[in-house]
Amino acid sequence: MALAEFLQQLDDLASAADQAFGSAGDSDSLEAARVEYLGAKQGRLKAVQKQMGRVDPGDRRSAGMRFNQVKQQIEAAFQAATERLADGGSTVQQGAHFDHSLPGTPLRVGRLHPITQTIEELKDIMGRLGFSAAEGPEIEDQWHNFEALNIPHEHPARDPLDNFYLSSAEKTTGDTPLLLRSQTSTVQIRVMENTPPPVRIISLGRVYRPDTADATHYPMFHQMEGLLIDRQVTMADLKSVLRLFAASYLGGDVHIRFRPSFFPFTEPSVEVDYHWNDQWIEFGGAGMVDPNVLQAVGYDPEEVIGFAFGLGVERLCMRRHRINDIREFYKNDVRFLHQF
Ligand code: PHE
Repeated sequence: MALAEFLQQLDDLASAADQAFGSAGDSDSLEAARVEYLGAKQGRLKAVQKQMGRVDPGDRRSAGMRFNQVKQQIEAAFQAATERLADGGSTVQQGAHFDHSLPGTPLRVGRLHPITQTIEELKDIMGRLGFSAAEGPEIEDQWHNFEALNIPHEHPARDPLDNFYLSSAEKTTGDTPLLLRSQTSTVQIRVMENTPPPVRIISLGRVYRPDTADATHYPMFHQMEGLLIDRQVTMADLKSVLRLFAASYLGGDVHIRFRPSFFPFTEPSVEVDYHWNDQWIEFGGAGMVDPNVLQAVGYDPEEVIGFAFGLGVERLCMRRHRINDIREFYKNDVRFLHQF
């Protein structure tokens, strides 16, 4: 017999024995494996040893040396399996010891996204001022996003360049396409349509505008809408609520400023600025709800009056935590998120 053939038999035997001893799950199967491979009379190692006499005489020395190596290897595998079973018997830890006194690998615990944390806190503050949270859909129809808010058909705010209109056929009502809401003011309409006055709600959620992302803009962001409707409400109430809110969220020394502005759904309208880094930063808009809006939802403008505001949640959170770039919120980089 050629040497190569003999060595092949040895290799096959070694790996088969390794497998058999390694997978023996109890002492009976280990004993069966021992008899099969190491048995003195019928064992497979013995059988291979008998072949050695047939190896070409010039190669017998090499054959014998390799035979002894394999024999030791198989005996060692048997020894390891014996110890493993004596140790408790798991088949996975072949010989390796499990040190149960070592400290475990710590699991990284997740946390709420900073914007979610901010939303919870804003709800909390406004809740103490008597405002309860309302919600509305992110896919809106044009009645709630525009019409009822006194934004007529030809108004530039409806321009397709400034809105994410949906194009698929089933996403339209009649011939006016639905859109991703561009403002949370939609929720004012939905609440007033379903609730008789008085109303005192906030609504926090996502809005969408086709803005190019830069340090202060992102095509998706969050707003906090507020709406208060009652019999006697003034701009002074609006300013008090916004100042109380700002002081609670940003700290008592915060300054707030109203600038005259225009929104179709409020009259008069203002921009709301907070003082930050020696600058006035715009955080949103506000005003007294336009009588046309009250009429659109079936309220009587002679009977009730109110104010509304809409603030950017990201900007509030950025001011509070001194974050300089809105894009950080949406990169999903845990090194950033983990700080909050
Ligand atoms: N909806 C306005 C915006 O997105 C903000 C606003 C809300 C203004 C309520 C007045 C009243 O810019």
